[in-house]
Amino acid sequence: NRITHHLSFTILDKEPLNTKDLEKQVAAREAVKYIRDNDIVGLGTGSTAYYTIIEVAELVKNGLKIKGVPTSEHTASLATSLGIELLDMNAVEYIDVTIDGADEFDENLNLIKGGGGAHFREKIVASLTKKEIIIADAAKKVDQLGKFKVPVEIVPLALNYVVRAMAKLGGQGAVRMKDGKQFITDNHNLIVDADFGLIGDPAALSEKLNQIEGILAHGLFVNLAAMVIVGQGTEAVTYTK
Ligand code: 5RP
Repeated sequence: NRITHHLSFTILDKEPLNTKDLEKQVAAREAVKYIRDNDIVGLGTGSTAYYTIIEVAELVKNGLKIKGVPTSEHTASLATSLGIELLDMNAVEYIDVTIDGADEFDENLNLIKGGGGAHFREKIVASLTKKEIIIADAAKKVDQLGKFKVPVEIVPLALNYVVRAMAKLGGQGAVRMKDGKQFITDNHNLIVDADFGLIGDPAALSEKLNQIEGILAHGLFVNLAAMVIVGQGTEAVTYTK
């Protein structure tokens, strides 16, 4: 009796999570339809991009000669463990298709990324990519970016300078912590999650942040996404500009 009770509780507990995961999987399965044989594919980072990596591994098992360019150490080890051959960013002139997640997107396909702290490599990969496809669950669509704080990767010795420079732009930031310690990125830097309020002009803010020395990369992605595919129940809804 106890076991039955416990089991049903567990399943109930997991139910909302499962729906979201299903939507992530629906979006990923739609996105991988854009991958062709012999493509170089950018592999994103995060719980949504995870489903893409699973699907790409299936394509590889089915004989497609796809090579991946990972956006994080975590994605690299997952992809390798699933048998996907990887290429270094420096070894490619371009990437055919990248499939990645986002923390927020608006109707102009501007994004906030970096919730997982991988946005520097994600931005380089996106910049090398011909078709950047973002996959998301429906909750990531917003009228205006900015409820999700903008992740900013900072070279540690410039931390206080950058925090003051961002404050002058109206951004209040705190250093990201994990397990009681400062979160360290794959590139050995810090992340400050900066609250700029709702962002009226993402392109203008992106440009201003680009001018602050000491910022390696910020999480505003402007004009990088070609499409956003959202899982809504069992349907995939595609947003283009
Ligand atoms: C990592 C990212 C992720 O794509 C973003 O944080 C979304 O993650 P998730 O799919 O887990 O919600 O930008 O740097």
